[in-house]
Amino acid sequence: MRAAPAAQGAPAPRLPFPPDFVWGAATSAYQIEGAAADDGRGPSIWDTFCAQAGRIADGRDGAVACDHYHRMAEDVALMARLGLEAYRFSIAWPRVLPAGRGAVNAAGLDFYDRLVDALLAAGIEPWITLYHWDLPQALQDEGGWTARSTVDAFVAFAQVVAARLGDRVERWITHNEPWCASVLGHLEGVHAPGLTDPYAHLASSHHLLLSHGLAVPVIRAAAPGAQVGIALNLVPAEPASSSAADADAARHFDGCFNRWYLDPLAGRGYPADIVAHYQLTAYVDAWDFIHDGDMAAIAAPTDFLGVNYYSRGIIRGDAATGIETGAPTVVAGADKTDMDWEVYPEGLRALLVRVHQDYAPPAIYITENGAAYADGPDGAGRIADARRLAFHEGHLRACHQAIAEGVPLAGYFAWSLLDNFEWAFGYEKRFGLVWVDYETQTRRPKDSALWYRDAIAQGGL
Ligand code: FCB
Repeated sequence: MRAAPAAQGAPAPRLPFPPDFVWGAATSAYQIEGAAADDGRGPSIWDTFCAQAGRIADGRDGAVACDHYHRMAEDVALMARLGLEAYRFSIAWPRVLPAGRGAVNAAGLDFYDRLVDALLAAGIEPWITLYHWDLPQALQDEGGWTARSTVDAFVAFAQVVAARLGDRVERWITHNEPWCASVLGHLEGVHAPGLTDPYAHLASSHHLLLSHGLAVPVIRAAAPGAQVGIALNLVPAEPASSSAADADAARHFDGCFNRWYLDPLAGRGYPADIVAHYQLTAYVDAWDFIHDGDMAAIAAPTDFLGVNYYSRGIIRGDAATGIETGAPTVVAGADKTDMDWEVYPEGLRALLVRVHQDYAPPAIYITENGAAYADGPDGAGRIADARRLAFHEGHLRACHQAIAEGVPLAGYFAWSLLDNFEWAFGYEKRFGLVWVDYETQTRRPKDSALWYRDAIAQGGL
């Protein structure tokens, strides 16, 4: 059952959100589904990466994860009990196209068909992310995102999924966080496919963006009425002091981390200062992966921008490392989550205002925001995750303020519905509104989930 809407007896909120504001939660396929070898799913780069010694903190993988593939109905019922209005999930490409392209695995596509129907029957709007990092290994064997052929494969994958689900799904996100896929996966080597290659960093980021742009019209054609966007992880950069060196470093960080994606999507090409930097440092000496027409394709008009926000970066000009890849320098003494990320809701407000002023996307959704804290069940089975509750409340207040300042912010997705496989950190970091006991696969809503349920029911805070 859906939670009662505010009009049916929930107390009036002090901070009401617009009536059509979308309240949701997010997950991704590899992090929750498990069933890695079921029903014809092919291997992904994350299966391969996890099997390599030393890659994952706890040595584990997503082979079982939250077993969502087998517990989908139970999980949708849980979402309904929490009153979620929308659920953002991703499609496992290797489930649908086990070899990356060519033959469609009907059983894999059927799973998402059933999920969409179950969500709609529960009154929950499905939001699909096409790529949340689980590239079919067969495509990696041909070069993965460094190869232009992967762009075509992605567009074909988008077509297959949109043709099947586009009659019922209106909201489509092409890519999740191309910065992570390109920098963490191809330069820092801490995510699959584990490369540390500057050329692969830039070639992959270009191909991710290009595949986004080329998929936009394909999704629209297959799913009439579709709203299409991309989800970027943006990190507002603040200079550590008033020195000129720190200001320069913050501008440079912003260029590598934020403008490298925002500018080309807005039709401005790659930011000249960062292109010059990569050239001057001989970071990349051939830009041969950029072909005529690519930049226009990347700038295909979209309906919304998805913003994933976790923290800010405080940037020092003398930092020996980090500026190149955009890794934030650490702020001593600040309030931090288990990821060591500073809790800083004001950064979200400032970021939203800045993105609105500088890029003016037609609408913005927070497609991820959340915090890792380890709090588990007490003797009575309650999970008193007060810090996570405060995190979401603080960031929703920042959202409310941004809306008051004129930002067209239209929804918020908590990361994550469930505790899940947190990539290189394995199962050690828990982001869920809902506790998962991985031994028994029991789900138990934390205090934050119950608080979120009430906020949704009231339509505000
Ligand atoms: C984001 C990812 C998501 C999750 C959160 C904590 O970068 O999109 O899958 O890992 O971080």
